[in-house]
Amino acid sequence: MTSATATSAPPNAGPVRQTAAAASTTDLSGSPLRVALLGCGVVGSEVARLLTEQAVDLRARVGRPLELVGIAVRRPNRSRPGIDPALFTTDAASLVTRPDVDLVIEVIGGIEPARSLILAALANGASVVTANKALLAEDGATLFTAAEQAKADLYFEAAVAGAIPIIRPLRESLVGDEITSVIGIVNGTTNFILDKMDTDGAGFAETLAEAQELGYAEADPTADVEGFDAAAKAAILASLAFHTRVTAADVYREGISEVSSSDISSAKAIGCVVKLLALCQLSDPSTSGRDRSVSVRVHPAMIPRSHPLAGVGGAYNAIFVESRSAGRLMFYGPGAGGSPTASAVLGDLVTVARNRVRGAVGPGESSYAARPVAAIGSVTTRYHLSLEVADVAGVLARIAQVFAEHDVSIQTVRQNGRGAEASLVIVTHRATDAALSATVASLHELDVVRDVTSVMRVEGE
Ligand code: HSE
Repeated sequence: MTSATATSAPPNAGPVRQTAAAASTTDLSGSPLRVALLGCGVVGSEVARLLTEQAVDLRARVGRPLELVGIAVRRPNRSRPGIDPALFTTDAASLVTRPDVDLVIEVIGGIEPARSLILAALANGASVVTANKALLAEDGATLFTAAEQAKADLYFEAAVAGAIPIIRPLRESLVGDEITSVIGIVNGTTNFILDKMDTDGAGFAETLAEAQELGYAEADPTADVEGFDAAAKAAILASLAFHTRVTAADVYREGISEVSSSDISSAKAIGCVVKLLALCQLSDPSTSGRDRSVSVRVHPAMIPRSHPLAGVGGAYNAIFVESRSAGRLMFYGPGAGGSPTASAVLGDLVTVARNRVRGAVGPGESSYAARPVAAIGSVTTRYHLSLEVADVAGVLARIAQVFAEHDVSIQTVRQNGRGAEASLVIVTHRATDAALSATVASLHELDVVRDVTSVMRVEGE
């Protein structure tokens, strides 16, 4: 195993093996940079295809050829048209520790063996490009430390929102600014489902079934519909935006399986649309002094139809960033799929290859701010509540009293009477999650309240 921190190449290293310390000038010798690919599914096969198809342009952009030297797969005999079968190996560990491998692309996903393979590749001095959001969100710190020690690159544009450039803008373009909020639609499956529910008026279960038939949702849709996928992406975005470490376990998470067609129509009635949002926010300096915390959460929310994120339809993704100097920025595009994700992977590959050629490394982890993650109970937002109540004198007053007791201020009330019963829609001003939860618990105890049929956050104002 070689180390990128060594000052000279070991005897068994290939002619292109170089270290950050050794390569102080641009190497235009034309000898190839050797690439190992881990995984050959939807994304990996597209990466392999593009590496061959665009070899001439990639060579020109990097300054040296990129040579794919091996592809680690579980089933080497599976037909993968257009890819040389001689490249396949089931021995991923040997592939990433080959002394002549300069760049490793990891697109197998999951925690293990991906983590061990990436760590082995970095220890071997290779730079790594990964699309692995789950691993970065669970244990990014270990990977960043290993990259730092190896003086190698760790790039991961494809880990969040597919083809949309958002990692590099946060990590580089906006690094001189103070980002205060990142709000994203970062899961295409759930956006497709919610958009269809909004358009067709259908319920969650039937829309999910339709999304599965059309190939937009997996047979086991848990990771998408319960918000795990979005929570991993939120952890990565918050870590980068706020120069801190946020893991998936720090992210408050609710999925969309409880969103009903009546939630969608209630949203419409107040000029909103329901979206699954990943919200990463820096606390206000006036309320939190020098130790500003971050809140990171994933949940369905109503947003005004005038908000830039409201128009993001189908399986598209978008990320809305607010920063002190730049103001409001919106990043939009395809957030998944073989070809869009391969575009992000290849963008990273060219970047780390260029760095290699110049003997440089790109930015490492920036977590100096070490901000605390706020508990969900202290996070403030507005709420939309639907209640079924008895339609008798004094009911509104008793309900308003419960809100007042918990210091939750009501913004609007709408009532539809239907004889002895009525449905009530209440929208609040900003309140903490803890105060709202206590309000809802107290409402359940009122004899005039038949049911609290829905509680949803209202964001984006
Ligand atoms: N399953 C994800 C989505 C794509 O639906 O957006 C990969 O993160």
